[in-house]
Amino acid sequence: MPMTVRPYRAEDLGRILQLWERAGCIPNGPDGLAVDQVLDVMTSERGLTLVAESEGETVGMVTTVVAGAVAWIVRLAVAQPAEGGEVAQGLLEQVEARLGGLGVRRLVAMVQDDHPDRKTFLERGFQEVPAIRHLERDIPATVGAPGNLARLGGRMIHPDLWRELRGMEEPKAIIERRVILPLAEPALATRHAVSPPMAIVLFGPPGTGKTTFAKGIASRLGWPFVEIEPGELAGEGPDRQAKLLAETFELIIDLPAAVVFVDEVEDLASIRHEERRASPSVTNEFLKQIPRLREASHHLLVCATNWVGRLDPAFLRPGRFDYVLPVGPPDEDARRAIWRRYAEEITDQEVDLDRLVAASAMFTPADIEFAARKAAQKAFEREHFEGRGHRATTSEFLTAISETKPTLSQDILASFSSDTERFARY
Ligand SMILES: Nc1ncnc2c1ncn2[C@@H]1O[C@H](COP(=O)(O)OP(=O)(O)OP(=O)(O)O)[C@@H](O)[C@H]1O
Ligand SMILES: [Mg+2]
Repeated sequence: MPMTVRPYRAEDLGRILQLWERAGCIPNGPDGLAVDQVLDVMTSERGLTLVAESEGETVGMVTTVVAGAVAWIVRLAVAQPAEGGEVAQGLLEQVEARLGGLGVRRLVAMVQDDHPDRKTFLERGFQEVPAIRHLERDIPATVGAPGNLARLGGRMIHPDLWRELRGMEEPKAIIERRVILPLAEPALATRHAVSPPMAIVLFGPPGTGKTTFAKGIASRLGWPFVEIEPGELAGEGPDRQAKLLAETFELIIDLPAAVVFVDEVEDLASIRHEERRASPSVTNEFLKQIPRLREASHHLLVCATNWVGRLDPAFLRPGRFDYVLPVGPPDEDARRAIWRRYAEEITDQEVDLDRLVAASAMFTPADIEFAARKAAQKAFEREHFEGRGHRATTSEFLTAISETKPTLSQDILASFSSDTERFARY
């Protein structure tokens, strides 16, 4: 039976779909890929797809994607796998010749253990690589077009950040239940008439982890993190600045999902206008945009401030922000967890964490990080200058603590707890 092999043309599509149907590739082929995923590859410029015909029938197809000297066989499908050896071999031979001519030097294919294709590839001289396992992950649909995200200076946050946030069990639990669960389980939330939060305010003394926390939320949700700084908008004149802010929000709302972070929101919304760094038109524009952002699904606005008491109470109203959450100083357990994290990174010596915890009573997580880095620097210098070859010890940590000025004071703690009483809402 004479067979011809030629490159794919758009008019082949209908017959290829029929071929896939017969070969059991719909909805997913043995490669695990869905129809639309393979079609995307077939129509991309980086691929080569060949079609085998015999007596006017489409009897086989192979599609590949090429990256430099390596090409991946994304799908090989033949009409009658039992006797398809010949068709499949013909397709592989042709693909090899054409890609070889383009400079490809290695072909990679994935097959299921018990699939007939495996024999086909082995016969063609493909080698099994026993130590390699195939892993895959679907990127959530909520991850947006890289273009807009890059223009906004946004980025994806490492998925482990949430887990790595140490010691903030209480705020973490609040965020996990009130913010993340309804967003992550929309169907269950709808069933109970729970509406996911659209905007929250985090407040607390400097360095307690508000920014880290907002990034953690993005990491936990798998949404991009976009920070905007309305107080810093450059542009000639307040009207131009307001316009720039509106354009920024336009791009953000176009993203399929985003955690939008506004730090130092007092610059925009202090009750005393002279404390605002942003002009009134920028503030108005921001207020105008919040409801639009609330309407966009998969967008969470997180505003942070060290001075919740300075914010205009009208700004904080429930219709605008769903929760006003305190992010407070770390207690002993939290400090121990944070110290452990840095100690594990910095040294392999036994460190007396209890002494570090006791010595760092008025420290924020940022102070702990600073002192921990200082201890690492001391150990580094010691080894360089004195040649004593071990990593940081408890005493170096304690010296570093004694040389670090704690951020917290009784006054700060007192005002944080009265702020919490007055403003916290969750
Ligand atoms: N729970 C935590 N565990 C470990 N490290 C932390 C934790 N929270 C914060 N940090 C570290 O402390 C530093 C300061 O945190 P962050 O910038 O989030 O504080 P902030 O509250 O936003 O401060 P500011 O009010 O000054 O903006 C960061 O380098 C961060 O890595
Ligand atoms: Mg911050």
